[in-house]
Amino acid sequence: MFYSEDLVEDVRSRNDIVDVINSYVGLKKKGNTYTACCPFHNEKTPSFHVSRDKQLYHCFGCGAAGTVYTFLQQYENYTFPEAVEFLADRAGITLPRREMTLQERRDADYSSALKEVNKAAAGYFYYALRQKNGEAAMHYLTGRGLSEETIHRFGLGYSNLYRDDLYQYLKQKGYDDRLLMDSGLVRFDERQGVTDVFWNRVMFPIMDLNGKVIGFGGRVMGDGLPKYVNSQETRIYEKRRHLYGFHIARRSRRQGFILCEGYMDVIAMHQAGFDNATASLGTAFTIQQAMLLKRYTDKVYLAYDSDGAGVAAAQKAIPILREVGISARVISLEPYKDPDEFMKNLGADAFEERIKQAESSIMFQVRIAAGHYNQQDPESRTRFQQEAVKLLAVLQDPLERDNYIEAVAGQYFIDKKKLTDSVNRYGKYMTEQKQYQEAVKEEKPQDIRRQERVRQRKQQPQRLLLTWLVNYPNELFPQLRGRIGPEDFMDPLYQALANQLFHQYEINGTVNPAAIINQYEEADQQEQAASILQTTLQLEPSPEDNSMVITEIVRKVKEESLQHQLTHLQDYNKLQDIIRLKGQISDWNISLTCG
Ligand code: UTP
Ligand code: MN
Repeated sequence: MFYSEDLVEDVRSRNDIVDVINSYVGLKKKGNTYTACCPFHNEKTPSFHVSRDKQLYHCFGCGAAGTVYTFLQQYENYTFPEAVEFLADRAGITLPRREMTLQERRDADYSSALKEVNKAAAGYFYYALRQKNGEAAMHYLTGRGLSEETIHRFGLGYSNLYRDDLYQYLKQKGYDDRLLMDSGLVRFDERQGVTDVFWNRVMFPIMDLNGKVIGFGGRVMGDGLPKYVNSQETRIYEKRRHLYGFHIARRSRRQGFILCEGYMDVIAMHQAGFDNATASLGTAFTIQQAMLLKRYTDKVYLAYDSDGAGVAAAQKAIPILREVGISARVISLEPYKDPDEFMKNLGADAFEERIKQAESSIMFQVRIAAGHYNQQDPESRTRFQQEAVKLLAVLQDPLERDNYIEAVAGQYFIDKKKLTDSVNRYGKYMTEQKQYQEAVKEEKPQDIRRQERVRQRKQQPQRLLLTWLVNYPNELFPQLRGRIGPEDFMDPLYQALANQLFHQYEINGTVNPAAIINQYEEADQQEQAASILQTTLQLEPSPEDNSMVITEIVRKVKEESLQHQLTHLQDYNKLQDIIRLKGQISDWNISLTCG
């Protein structure tokens, strides 16, 4: 832990979990809790609950749970110290400078060193573009219609004709060879020694969310091959996680994002006023990128090239977007090849029109499928209809499904009733398949499964007791004194939680579950702990019944504990005590007034 427990708790208590989470996902008040659709999985009905009393959240759908810190670790990908820093800042608390672990400092230093090198290189390329040597490159860019301002905004540059001038420049700035090699800007080979990777190309710096340069794409000026050379992946640059131009697009005031294929497309779009355009980085669109987009919007327009490759890429991107809950629309650029060409020929107003006419992803998919079959040939037509059924069955929302069935039936002259039946049948079949596959996946060798069941059964009373203690501390702790203590919780996690709860009650006369969870740094530990402490009890209607339930739980926990002590007994003088205690347990009665 970098910060003291007190400080961590202080920061937490000054950031109300409802307010913090509400600034990311709109919460609705519902009795004592606040609910929303879970930001950690795709759902249509809200199962994400935030409790102001307990200062915890929990999703009944996917199990995500924790404190305001856990939330930020999961949502913003913060480390624990980063989450503390963020919330301290939010609450106007000044933190002492924190001590990093050696490894952490090394990692952080190395990443920032890599960013520094990239930044220096971007500056060098930028400068070179404006020198005499860079005239041809500048000419190339302006020849493609880019304005001075656009060139500046995207930080475009030029890598010289010399073999190693960037290397010399960076070396003279004091960066060592290892770092430069790792940055992907220079390479070493036996014959030539150290040389620059980028050579006589116009340079497109690639930036992260915050506008920090993390890599480059370099385009040949003209028709040479390869058209682009790109930075290799490094610790700070993972192609699947970043999007070109996203540091600008995410602040756009336009609705949704426009997803393009290339650097030049994004730049042309921004220049035409569509500053919500972004692109994946010379690789197929990924689920990580989709999740990134989903944090800002659930609307994405695909403006991929209109050639075969572009259509294929769009067909791949659509299900990925759907996976995270984004419904895509496809923009037609016909008769032009890509957004860049479209803008040059028809301009921004025409593009605005194309956005309005964008085709829903389902209709796009069905239309592309239709193109593969001969509608005049009965057999071929049947196969097309089967394709269409598969595509429509993916839609979960009944109303949406019905609307699209109607549209497809109308457009392709299929009987609506027949199409509906097929889609529903296929949908049902798919659901069953999925359930079956999940069941198979969980299938484990007999003995492991048995062991697990035994383990779970044993932990159940411990877990329940913790939950009761959190919910009824004032009634329970006094009655447990002298009978049961944290050492009776056999499971390490439960024992740790019990230790803290008993301690808190001892010191403060009450419990504070959120403060306990603070102490776990790993999000999954926080999640496990929170799901225990956050659980609301299913109360029986009468106090008598509740007393019976809790008595049963307390006895079981103690019995297990004594049994454990018996089997691990080393000091036989204690044997008598344990046996005597075992006899007494059945006389214990805990009484509750709640119900
Ligand atoms: P394009 O060939 O469509 O390039 O490739 P572009 O950006 O539109 O460039 P212009 O308009 O032809 O000048 C789309 C994207 O695929 C990646 C790049 O990210 C490019 O922007 N790509 C393409 C490469 O990484 N390497 C290549 O050789 C070609
Ligand atoms: Mn292109």
